Amino acid sequence: MSSLIKDIDLNKLPAHIAIIMDGNGRWAKTHGKPRVFGHKNGVLAVREVTEAAAELGIKYLTLYAFSTENWSRPSFEVNALMALLVETVKRELSTFNKNNIRLQAIGDLSKLPDMTRKTLLEGIEQTKNNTRMTLILALNYSSRWEIVEAVKKIATQVNDGLLSVDNITSDVFSEYLTTKDIPDPELMIRTSGEHRISNYLLWQAAYAELYFTSVLWPDFRREHFYQALLDFQGRERRFGKISEQLIEVQ
Ligand code: IPE
Ligand code: IPE
Ligand code: MG
Repeated sequence: MSSLIKDIDLNKLPAHIAIIMDGNGRWAKTHGKPRVFGHKNGVLAVREVTEAAAELGIKYLTLYAFSTENWSRPSFEVNALMALLVETVKRELSTFNKNNIRLQAIGDLSKLPDMTRKTLLEGIEQTKNNTRMTLILALNYSSRWEIVEAVKKIATQVNDGLLSVDNITSDVFSEYLTTKDIPDPELMIRTSGEHRISNYLLWQAAYAELYFTSVLWPDFRREHFYQALLDFQGRERRFGKISEQLIEVQ
C-alpha cells in the first residue's frame, strides 16, 4: 500500500495538533491482557506519531497522557502509568535530542509523584534548546482546573492594582493559561471512537477541527496520522465567515 504522505500539502500543515490518546484499556482487553499492557503498547504509537509529526514539520504536538480525573482509576493502574512515564521519558531522551525535539508539560505537576515530576523536569531541562518541534505532555491536566487557575491569577492582579478590568481581553486571558506561549491547536484528534473532549484544552480548541477515529490508540500509526491531516486539509475553516469571503481573500 502506498503512503498517504505524498498527498499532504506541506504548506497547509496545522502548527499545533492536540491528541486525546484513548482506547488503551479496550485494546488490552481485545488481546486478553490487563489494561496496563495497553498503556505499554500505547508508547509505540506515541513514538511513531511524534516522529511523523516532526518529520512533516509540525511545530507543536500536545498529547493527553493523564487527566486530573484519571486519579480516580484503580491505584494499581495509576501507579503503572506514572512508572511508565518515567521509563518512557528516560528512554526517549536521547531520541528527542537526536531529533531536535523539545519536551514540555502542561497540568498540575506539583501533584505528580516525586520521581515522575523529577524525571519530567529533567527531560524538559535537557531538551530545552531543541527547536524542530515541541512535544507537550498534558499530565494531571484538566481544562477547568487551568481556567480556574487563570481566573485566580487575574483576580489577584486586579486586587493588587496591577491589572485593570477593562484591559482583560481574550488575548490577555490566554496569557494566564499553561499554554501561554503555544499557538491554539488547529487539529484535535481523538482515537477509540469516543466523541468527547474530556476536559482537554477547552479554551484553546475554540476553533480546532475535530477528528475522530475508531482506531484504538495502541494501533494508531503514521498512516492514521496522515489520514487525519488529509481530512483536516480538505476542510474549509470559516471562523464565522461565509465561503465566498474566504475565496475573496485568496
Ligand atoms: C487512554 O486509554 C490512556 C489514558 C487515559 C491514560 P484508556 O486507558 O482510557 O483506555 P480505554 O478508554 O479504557 O479503552
Ligand atoms: C481522556 O481519556 C484522558 C486521556 C487520554 C489521558 P479518558 O479515557 O480518561 O476519558 P473518558 O473518561 O473516556 O472521558
Ligand atoms: Mg479511555
